[in-house]
Amino acid sequence: MIELIPAALKDEILPGEFIIPDALKVKSDFELSLLNLERDDNGKLIIHKDDCSDKEGYRLEVNENSINIYAGEEIGAYYALQSLRQISRYELGSRTVPCCKISDKPRFKWRGLQLDESRHFFGKEEVKRLLDMMFMMKLNVFHWHLTDDQGWRIEIKKYPLLTEIASKRDFTHIGGWGSRKIKNEPYSGYYTQEDISEIVDYAAKRGIMIVPEIDFPAHCAAAIAAYPWLACREIKTEVPGYFGGIIPEKVFHIKDWNRTICAGKDKTMEFVFDVIDEVCSLFPAPYFHIGGDEAPKDEWKKCPCCQQKMKEQNLKNEEDLQGYFNNLIFSHLKEKGKRLIGWNEILAAGNLDKTVIAQYWTPKRDKNAERHVNTGGNMILSNHQAFYFDMPYGQYSLKNTYNYTPENFGVNKENVKNVMGVEGENWTEWTDGREKLDLMLYPRVQALAEVAWSPAEKREWNNFKKRLDNFKDYFNLMNINYAVDKVSMPAGVFNRLKINRLFRNGDTYFEVKLNKEYRSKGEK
Ligand code: ACM
Ligand code: ZN
Repeated sequence: MIELIPAALKDEILPGEFIIPDALKVKSDFELSLLNLERDDNGKLIIHKDDCSDKEGYRLEVNENSINIYAGEEIGAYYALQSLRQISRYELGSRTVPCCKISDKPRFKWRGLQLDESRHFFGKEEVKRLLDMMFMMKLNVFHWHLTDDQGWRIEIKKYPLLTEIASKRDFTHIGGWGSRKIKNEPYSGYYTQEDISEIVDYAAKRGIMIVPEIDFPAHCAAAIAAYPWLACREIKTEVPGYFGGIIPEKVFHIKDWNRTICAGKDKTMEFVFDVIDEVCSLFPAPYFHIGGDEAPKDEWKKCPCCQQKMKEQNLKNEEDLQGYFNNLIFSHLKEKGKRLIGWNEILAAGNLDKTVIAQYWTPKRDKNAERHVNTGGNMILSNHQAFYFDMPYGQYSLKNTYNYTPENFGVNKENVKNVMGVEGENWTEWTDGREKLDLMLYPRVQALAEVAWSPAEKREWNNFKKRLDNFKDYFNLMNINYAVDKVSMPAGVFNRLKINRLFRNGDTYFEVKLNKEYRSKGEK
C-alpha cells in the first residue's frame, strides 16, 4: 500500500528503494520557487515538463537511481512533490523511498475548504497554516467567509465604518444554540487590503485560488450597524454578539437584528457594487460568492421602496425580488469576467439566471438545488451531513465525510459531470481558536481530500483508516490537535446523543476536553 492521502488514481509499488542522499539535488524544467533544494544538471530528482492530460495531474516514477516527475504545469509538479513527501516520510526521519510508479490527476476541479472569520477571527498566520495543509492535501479552493452578522472582516476604503464599527462587537454568545450565556468582552479584528493581497499571493504560490464571500442581502447585520441606511428601515442597531437560536432571542430580547439590506433603494445597490468592485480588485479568482442564504423577507414585504421596485419590475413575490437583486449582481460580476456563486436558497427565485453556481448546503433536501444540477446547472457540494465541519463528530462522524456520494444527495449519476466539486465548511460560532479549529478540521480534511481528489471506485474506508493512522505522525510533527479515533468515530448511540445535547446546550468544548483526555492516555 502506498502511504498517500489523497489516494492516487493509479499506483504500483515496485521492488527496491531509492536511498535519499544527504544533499538531494534537483534538475527541473520548472522554477518551483517553494522547492528548497540545490539545482544541479546531474541531480537525482528530475522534474520534466511533459504533456499531461490534466493541468493538475502528474506522473511520479521512483527507481533505485533516480526520482522522475512528469507534469504539464508547475502545479502538477508540486503535487508530485507533495506525493513524494508522503511516500518518503522524509520529514519523519526516513531516508529511503520505495520504488514505485504513480499516475495521478484529480476527480473534481473544485476541491474546497471554507473558513468563517466573521464569528471568530483567526488571522494571517492561522490562515497560512490552513493553506499549507490544503496544499499538502491537494485542495485548491479557499472559500473565505469574510463578512457576516457578527463582524465585517475586510477593509473597504470607500466605506471606512465597515472596519471602524462593523468589525467590532461588545460581547460573544457562548455555549451553543440553546445557551443563554455570553462572554462579556469586546471582540474585533479585520484584514487590511495589504493583508488580503499577502494571503492571496501565498495561496496562489500553492496552487490555491481564494474565493471571497461577501454576503448579500442577509447576514449583513454588522454592515447595517455601520450604515443604517442599507436596511429598509433606518434605525440604530449594534453589531450582534450572539449567534441566534430561539432561547437566546427570547432571553436577550434583541429585535431587529436579522434584517436584510433593502433591495429597492438605489443607494444600497450602489454600496453593493462599490464593495464588490473593491473586493474584486483584491481577488483574481473568476468567482465571487454572495452568500444569499437565509434571507428573511418580512422587511421587504413592508418596505415601500422594495414594494415599488417589485411593481416596477413586475416581480411576483419577494423571492423574485431576491432573484432580481441577484441578477443585477450577476451581470455586474459577469462584466468583470466573474461567475456568481450563492448558497442553494437563491434558487428559490423563479427569475434567477440559470448560469449561477449554487452551493448545496441545506440539511434538508432541496428540490430546487437538485433540479438545478440535474438540468445542467453547476453546483458545489457541501451537504451538511458530510461537510459541515463545525458540527460535533457525535452528530457527523468522520465516516459521513469519507463516504460522501453526490448520488445520495439527489445528483443523478449522469449529472455528476455538472458538479464542480466538494467543499468543507468551517463555521466558527462555537470555535474561537486553534485548539478547537484543529479538532473540527482534522482528520475531516483528509477525508474531504480523498472525496475531492481520488476516484470514487478507489475509496475504501478500511484502507483509508490504515493510511490515516500513519498520517497521524504528521499531525504530531505539525503540532496539530487532531481528533483521535474515539472522538472522530464515537461509538454508541447514547454516547452520541449525549455529545449532541451538550453541544447544543451547554458545552461546545466537550469533544476538545474528551480528546485531550484520550490523548493523555495514549489513544491515537
Ligand atoms: C449556511 O450554513 N447558512 C450557508
Ligand atoms: Zn426595502
